Amino acid sequence: MNEVSRDNGAAASGAPSQAPLKRVVLASNNAGKLREFAALLGAAGIELIAQGELNVPEAEEPHPTFVENALTKARHAAKLTGLPALADDSGLCVRALRGAPGVYSARYAQLAGGEKSDAANNARLVSVMQGETDRRAYYYCVLALVRHADDPEPLIAEGRWHGEMLDAPRGENGFGYDPYFFLPSLNASAAELDPAVKNASSHRAIALRQLLARLTEEA
Ligand code: IMP
Repeated sequence: MNEVSRDNGAAASGAPSQAPLKRVVLASNNAGKLREFAALLGAAGIELIAQGELNVPEAEEPHPTFVENALTKARHAAKLTGLPALADDSGLCVRALRGAPGVYSARYAQLAGGEKSDAANNARLVSVMQGETDRRAYYYCVLALVRHADDPEPLIAEGRWHGEMLDAPRGENGFGYDPYFFLPSLNASAAELDPAVKNASSHRAIALRQLLARLTEEA
């Protein structure tokens, strides 16, 4: 496949044309994400580099929305490297909790005075959901791609992965809330899935495919 250009018909409209995206910094140091994202973007001729390799420190995530946090992280990495940057932000949204823990998923227990760990987050969620009959929830992921730090037209993609909250853990794979997140269509919790199956169907996979489709459309 050809390298992707975000030209948007710029030449026809008289606007300056955009160079194709070749190297993109990933605003995350998570090796799993790098592998997942690199595989899909590699097919579009884009080389992905982890921000840690370029000595970029983690950005703050101070905002109340996923998209603002993703954009902040992408702009931060682009600013420090001079490269286009891709960032994601994700979390678990529980219907009965009106979307909580949502953007605060990683810090859910900490916000209630507990520790910042998956075990503490899950313990708080199980306790809050006790006796709740509406178990619907989804994982949400938003991706933000900026060509440069002040890009006025960031490319945004999102994915939702729908499931139901369990009250007891199942499975050993995955991370975060996965042992308590049940996928009826797969008859398994996210932590019972083979990692390859999770990586192909998750909120991140859905968002990445959307991003790739947009990039290809604009090429
Ligand atoms: P981040 O966007 O990767 O920092 O994820 C934020 C938080 O959302 C994580 O710390 C987890 O608590 C939760 N989360 C996001 N994606 C997943 C997932 O695929 N499985 C389990 N938990 C997730």
